[in-house]
Amino acid sequence: MTEASLLLEKDGALAIITFNNPKALNALTVATFCRLEELLDQLEQDTDIRVVILTGAGEKAFIAGGDISHLGTLDADGAREFALLAQRVIDRIEAFPKPVIAAINGYALGGGCELAMGCDIRIASDSARFGQPEVKLGIIPGFAGTQRLARLVGKGRAKELVFTGEMIDAEEACRIGLVNRVVTGDRLMEEARALALKMCDKSASAIRFAKDAIDNGLEMDFARGARYEADLFALCFTTADCKEGISAFLEKRLARF
Ligand code: CAA
Repeated sequence: MTEASLLLEKDGALAIITFNNPKALNALTVATFCRLEELLDQLEQDTDIRVVILTGAGEKAFIAGGDISHLGTLDADGAREFALLAQRVIDRIEAFPKPVIAAINGYALGGGCELAMGCDIRIASDSARFGQPEVKLGIIPGFAGTQRLARLVGKGRAKELVFTGEMIDAEEACRIGLVNRVVTGDRLMEEARALALKMCDKSASAIRFAKDAIDNGLEMDFARGARYEADLFALCFTTADCKEGISAFLEKRLARF
C-alpha cells in the first residue's frame, strides 16, 4: 500500500482520513495500520486539529476487513503479530485525545467493523452493511472485535453476529446500538462534519477528560469509575478552559476555547 492509499485532508479544525484502496474495498494491510499510526501521531501534535473523521473511498466500502490475501500467507505467529498490530492501532484510535468519528459509507466487515468500533461515534450511510464474517474463513475476529462488539451491543447479539457471520444493514446496526445514526449516502460527510463542528467550539481539554472518563471508567466497577470521574472532574479545575468557560457564563458572553 502506497502512502496515497491513506489520504489526509485538513479542513480548519477537522482532519479527514480516507482509506483509499477502493479496488480491494479498502481492505486493511500491515502498511495501512503503520501509516494510520503515523497520521495519528501527527494529528495528536497538531493543535489546530480538534476532531478526526475516518471514512472509506468509493461508494461500496468503508473497509471490507483485513486483507484476506495477506491472511492467506500467515502462520500462527504471523497471525498473532498482525492481530496485535491492528489492536494497538485501534486502541490508539480509542484512546486518541480528540474525538474520532467513523463516517461509514458502505461495507464495514471484519476488521473494518472492528476499526469502526474503536471510534467514538459511528455515523452510517443507509447503504452501509456491518458484519463479522470471519467464521466463513475459519477464523475469528482478531482486532478485538469479540470484546468491543459484545460491549457495544451485548453478548447475545455479538454472539449471533460472530457465530453466523451474517451481515446486517445500517438500520439494524442503529437499532442495536452499533451505530449512532443513519443518513442518506449523499449527506454522510456533511452530517459527520456538522457533528464534528459541534465539538470544535467546545473545550478540547474537557472533551479529552470526558472521553477518558467514559472509556476507562466503563472498564471499572461503578464505584471506581465514579471516583475516576471525580479525579478527572478535579483536573478540569486546573485548566484555562475551566476558568474561561465558567467566567464566560457568569459574564453572559460566549466562551472562547
Ligand atoms: N481482503 C482483500 N480483498 C478484498 C476484501 C478483503 N477483506 N474484500 C474484498 N476484497 C476484494 C475482492 O477480492 C475483489 O478483488 P478483485 O476485484 O481483485 O477480485 C474486490 O475487493 C471487490 O470485491 P468483490 O468482487 O468480492 O465485491 P462484491 O460486491 O461481489 O462483494 C463483499 C463485496 C461482500 C464485501 C465481498 O468482497 C466480501 O465478502 N469480502 C470479504 C469480507 C470479509 O470476509 N471480511 C473479513 C476479512 S477477515 C478480517 O477482517 C480479519 C480480522 O478480523 C482479523
